[in-house]
Amino acid sequence: MFEARVASLQDRIEAVLDRALTLPDAATARLRDAMRYSVLGGGKRLRPVLVYATGSALGAPLEALDAPAAAVELIHVYSLIHDDLPAMDDDDLRRGRPTCHRAFDEPTALLAGDALQAHAFEVLSQPLPGDPVQLAGRQIAMIRVLAAAIGTSGMAGGQAIDLESIGCALDVPAIENMHRRKTGALIRASVLLGAIAAGVDTGDRYEALARFGAEVGLAFQIQDDILDVEGSAARLGKTPGVDAARTKPTYATRAGLAEARLLAHAAHDRAVAALTPLGAAADVLAHLARYIVRREH
Ligand code: IPE
Ligand code: IPE
Ligand code: MG
Ligand code: MG
Ligand code: MG
Repeated sequence: MFEARVASLQDRIEAVLDRALTLPDAATARLRDAMRYSVLGGGKRLRPVLVYATGSALGAPLEALDAPAAAVELIHVYSLIHDDLPAMDDDDLRRGRPTCHRAFDEPTALLAGDALQAHAFEVLSQPLPGDPVQLAGRQIAMIRVLAAAIGTSGMAGGQAIDLESIGCALDVPAIENMHRRKTGALIRASVLLGAIAAGVDTGDRYEALARFGAEVGLAFQIQDDILDVEGSAARLGKTPGVDAARTKPTYATRAGLAEARLLAHAAHDRAVAALTPLGAAADVLAHLARYIVRREH
């Protein structure tokens, strides 16, 4: 039931992304090919699934959630392309295939990331049927939340801390701060975009969802650190062991695997506790939180 629902949302977002990346401009075919190569046909689509699950729990139709779901995945893929560049993590494998700069070249990968970021905001602000005043208000709120999640206080800031921390012995609170920014902020924003698209942009439920998103976001990156130690390339679709090889401080390298697992589960428990004001409507979100700490890829 839960798995079938997630699979149907994954199929839905694949079609939405395919449409969003139909960019008929012959002069930039190589750039478009790099964008489509990186976005389509891979990935767990966790962030769009969070948008759909949150919005649906609050009564929004799926059609009202397609644009924010696509926008968060476009941003996520941009972050992956840049994260894999030689100037950052220098990785060759992503989603079971050569990374964008390997399949194309470094300048194209840089620009594909840039263009995906811009395209995310274009998709998020596209005209849709409905009350134009209400729609514009929601779109501006979503743009603000998404932009804040990926700037200096969110993903880009977290990535800056990540790169500055190579070879440093960060303590666990400092690693937590880095993780909340580089990964947690976009996951939290995914939940909040689902809420805003459903017309919930303030109040107890919004605050509860913000806490839920932040805690599952932290749990997600702790599990990513664990899988870098425990996973295989075949299962992960990316090269394991790269964090230790680059002397990156992570939960796994700093706290050890057993403690990292406990901390991921504690974040999971805080996330699920935050859902109380939403009642049974949030069951799918609780399932997703469980999946996040149990996933093997
Ligand atoms: C990987 O994210 C990068 C991190 C923020 C840890 P995902 O594990 O969600 O990657 P895909 O989208 O499924 O490939
Ligand atoms: C990436 O963290 C966070 C991003 C903002 C992309 P990692 O560098 O650990 O992600 P992976 O392991 O390469 O997917
Ligand atoms: Mg990285
Ligand atoms: Mg990386
Ligand atoms: Mg990682």
